[in-house]
Amino acid sequence: MADPYYLTTAIHYPNGRPHLGHAYETIAADVMARFQRARGRDVRFQTGTDEHGLKMAQKARDLGTTPRALADEMSGHFRDLFDILDISYDRFFRTSEDAHHRASQTLWQAMEANGDLYLDRYEGWYSVRDEAYYDEGELIDGEGGDKLSPQGTPVEWTVEESWFFRLSRYQEPLLALYRDNPNWVRPERSRNEVVRFVEGGLKDLSISRTSFDWGVKVPGADDHVMYVWVDALTNYLTGVGYPDDADLMAKFWPADLHLIGKDIVRFHAVYWPAFLMSAGLPLPKAIFAHGFLLNRGQKESKSLGNVTDPAALADQFGVDVLRYFLLREFSFGQDGTWSPEAIVGRANAELANSFGNLAQRVLSFIAKNCDGRVEVQGDLADADTALLAKVRATCGTELPAAFERLAFAAGLEAWMQAVFACNAYVDEQAPWALRKTDPARMHTVLATLCDCIRQLTVAIAPVTPTAAGKLMDALSVPADSRDYNSLSHEDVTAFIIDKPSPVFPRLELPA
Ligand code: MF3
Repeated sequence: MADPYYLTTAIHYPNGRPHLGHAYETIAADVMARFQRARGRDVRFQTGTDEHGLKMAQKARDLGTTPRALADEMSGHFRDLFDILDISYDRFFRTSEDAHHRASQTLWQAMEANGDLYLDRYEGWYSVRDEAYYDEGELIDGEGGDKLSPQGTPVEWTVEESWFFRLSRYQEPLLALYRDNPNWVRPERSRNEVVRFVEGGLKDLSISRTSFDWGVKVPGADDHVMYVWVDALTNYLTGVGYPDDADLMAKFWPADLHLIGKDIVRFHAVYWPAFLMSAGLPLPKAIFAHGFLLNRGQKESKSLGNVTDPAALADQFGVDVLRYFLLREFSFGQDGTWSPEAIVGRANAELANSFGNLAQRVLSFIAKNCDGRVEVQGDLADADTALLAKVRATCGTELPAAFERLAFAAGLEAWMQAVFACNAYVDEQAPWALRKTDPARMHTVLATLCDCIRQLTVAIAPVTPTAAGKLMDALSVPADSRDYNSLSHEDVTAFIIDKPSPVFPRLELPA
C-alpha cells in the first residue's frame, strides 16, 4: 500500500478575482503534489475557497449582492484559474458546503467538552481585511493618524458579546511543540515570529461574532456565528472526512504539509494546533510559509494599476514556463520580485536554449538520420558513464532531496547544471560528425543522450507537466516508467523516437 501524503494550500477568500500570489502558492503545492505522486505516495491535495466572515459579507453588500452569490461567482474564477494552471488538486473545498458546517460544529463541541470555551464580551481591535484581532501594542500609526494593523490594514474598535477560546492554556504546550520539532514551522523567519509571539504571552481568543450572520452557527447559540478562522482552518479536517468518515481520516490525517503565505502563520502555527490539542486531534506534521511576489519591486494594488491576472500571464508565456519561472527564480520561503523580462530571460536561457534545444537537436537528428532508432553499440566510453552518473545523481538524488525540503530553486539549479553537462557532452562528442566516420559510436552517444534526456524529463515533470509529457511521448517512454522509481532502474540503452517537436519555443517580449 502506498504511503499517504496529504497536502493543502490555504483556502482563499473569494471576495475578488485570484491574483498572482494565489497562483504562486497553488503552483508550488501542485509541484509538491505531482512530485510526491511521482515518488509513489498516495497523494491527497486540497485547495479551495474560504467563504464566510465579515469581509465577504461587506464586499457582497457593497456590490449589492449576497455573500453566497459572490462566493459562487468568485470561487468559480479560482477553479477556472487552477484548471488553466494545470493544478492537479484532488479536492476543491468550499466552506459554504453543508458538511463543513457540521464538521466545524463538531470541532467546536469537542473544544467545548474540553472546557476551553466560555461566553464573555470582546472589546478590542479588529481588522476586517485580515479577519484578525490585534492587541493595542501590535498596532502601528498610519499616515492620517489612524491606527493600522501590523499588516498595514485598517482596524476598528469592536465591542461584542463573544465566545472565547482559552488560548492562554496552550502557551506551554505550544512552546514545547516548537522546541521538540524545530522544523515544524518553516522557514526560520516564520518559526522565530511564532515563537516570539507565543513567548510574549497568549490571551484568550474571541471566536464568535454576533453583528452579522454569514458564517457557521455556534451550536446552542444561534445568534452567534463562528469567527471565520475557526471554520476556515477546519477545512483541512472536513476535506478528509471529519467527523463521519473515520477511514479517510485515519488515512490522511494528520496532514503532511500545510503550505501557506507568510502573513497567516499565526493562525496556522498558534491557533490551529491549540484548537486541535483542545479537541484531542493529532497536529499537522509541517507548516511552510512562502514569501510574497513583488511586481518590479512593488506590491500589486488597484491604486497602482499593476494588478496582474495570472491567467493572462500563463496565456502570454505558457503555463509550463510560468510554473518553472515561479519556482526557479525565487528561493521558496523568501520574497521575490518579477517582471516580464525576467520571465522571458529565464525561459529563453534555460528552457528554450538549454534544455529544449538539447532535446530537439538530439531527437530530431535521430528521427531524420537514424530512422528514429538508436541503441548503445559496444562499450560505453568514460565520457558516457561520467555523464550518465552525473545526470542520475542529479535527477535521482539531488533534485528530489531539494524538493522534499521545498528548496525548489536549489533542485532546479542542480537540474540546470546537469542540462549544461549534456550540452557540453554534445559539443565534445559531436555525434553529427560521427555519422560518416563511426556510426556505431554515433549510436552510443545518441542513446546516452536519450537516456539523459529521459531522466531530466522525469525529474522536471512535476514542474512542467505538459512539456514533459510530450517529450516522454517522443522518447516512447512507457506510461508506467515515467515516475521517479524509473530513475533508479538500469540505464535505458535503446530508444525509438516518435515525431519530436520543440516543447520550449523561444519567447519574445511583447512590444
Ligand atoms: N482565507 C485566508 C486568507 O486568505 C486563509 C485561510 S486558510 C485556512 O488569508 F486554513 F484557514 F483555511
